Amino acid sequence: MTEHSTDRLEVLPVEGLPEFRPGDDLTGAIASAARWLRSGDVVVVTSKIVSKAEGRLVRVPEDPEARDAERRRLVEEEAVRVLARFGRTLITQNRIGIVQAASGVDASNVDKGEIALLPADPDASALALRNGLRERLGVEVAVVITDTMGRAWRVGQTDAAIGSSGLEVLHSYEGEVDGQGNELQVTEIAVADEIAAAADLVKGKLKATPVAVVRGLSLVDDGSTARKLVRPVEEDMFRLGVTEAIAQGRREAVPARRSVRRFTDEAVDPGALRRAIAAGLTAPAPHHTKPVRFVWLRDRGLRTKLLEAMRESWRADLRGDGFTDEQIARRVSRGDILFQAPEVVLPLLVPDGAHTYPDDRRNACERTMFTVAGGAAVQGFLVALAAEDLGSCWIGSTIFAADVVRDVLGLGAEWQPLGAVAVGHPVAVPDRGPLEPGEGLVEL
Ligand SMILES: Cc1cc2nc3c(=O)[nH]c(=O)nc-3n(C[C@H](O)[C@H](O)[C@H](O)COP(=O)(O)O)c2cc1C
Repeated sequence: MTEHSTDRLEVLPVEGLPEFRPGDDLTGAIASAARWLRSGDVVVVTSKIVSKAEGRLVRVPEDPEARDAERRRLVEEEAVRVLARFGRTLITQNRIGIVQAASGVDASNVDKGEIALLPADPDASALALRNGLRERLGVEVAVVITDTMGRAWRVGQTDAAIGSSGLEVLHSYEGEVDGQGNELQVTEIAVADEIAAAADLVKGKLKATPVAVVRGLSLVDDGSTARKLVRPVEEDMFRLGVTEAIAQGRREAVPARRSVRRFTDEAVDPGALRRAIAAGLTAPAPHHTKPVRFVWLRDRGLRTKLLEAMRESWRADLRGDGFTDEQIARRVSRGDILFQAPEVVLPLLVPDGAHTYPDDRRNACERTMFTVAGGAAVQGFLVALAAEDLGSCWIGSTIFAADVVRDVLGLGAEWQPLGAVAVGHPVAVPDRGPLEPGEGLVEL
């Protein structure tokens, strides 16, 4: 079994380092202050001094308010993506891929008139320092560059590796067996982060000891760098903050609905269907009425009976149009989705409370008004289904067989079918692509 741990470890401070300024020889300074370095040591360096030596300092006004405003501007500038805003705290992914508070932009341990950015490429800085120490002292060390970060689900910060060279940053125990005979399946130790945190116990935050040496590990150099410790965004449970996730969900709910015409055999959760119907029924309606009903055809026998009766009426319509039997069979087969869908819900309009006018024109307008209200409710239902990860397709057929629907289901003449909705778990949801209003938006 290969172990990442050791029996005994020393963490030694590198004392006597100067205050660094842009252009200073960081490697030379560490080499002079730590002549005692040995091959196999890990030199752990606070990123702040790397930033200073590499000139990653930005001049800012000393006035606290103006300084803070500039710091906030830099946080946004250094961010590739903002993942979360929590009060004044911004969690971002920066150019090197690291997700942390404030893009690593830091106003601590720098002059009042300056703010430090993270090193531009901390892995490259670690490699350069390692090569430099080999040249000057003839030692083969590993280098870890650290920054202080919070952790999801845990209070408090620890130091973590943002740059690394010369050691295996991740040690996997997959397939190894512990002392009790249990096979370890997911254990993968972030060795470079453990080294960074151990060194911080000696470096501290106030005592100006920006470099420490971890001695006693058996180093394995697998060529990996700290970049390997950055979790790919698609595997990240925290890729968005709660507020951002809710906002994105709201924005994407309406366009997430697509017509889904093929479903898996998986049963639909009745609770999800009820929630979606309740959501659909929140649609606006004229005169404070509630004119929409959703009839959920739970009885398969009744569903088949209705669909067969509708099919018969459709055939009669098509025969009347002069279609051949073959053409009729082809057309009618298009209605199969309602036979096969795991669930079918029929939206109907019952325009109780509609006004009656002395003239036909206004009566027709009133009908249109209630019909559009029915459409709004159906769309709400479909969107809510999509939000429940359920697919749906609105099929117009019952509109053309209103008498048949009322007859088979025993409904009164005031019940007006608004189509049928096939519901189920989608085999696939077609991608909609970017949202553009196109011809649908007319601005006057
Ligand atoms: C009132 C109405 C009736 C519809 N009838 C059918 C239908 O009979 N068969 C069908 O496959 N799709 C039907 N659709 C779905 C449309 O074909 C579909 O919404 C359109 O192609 C746009 O695709 P999308 O829903 O994926 O955005 C109907 C849609 C509406 C609003």
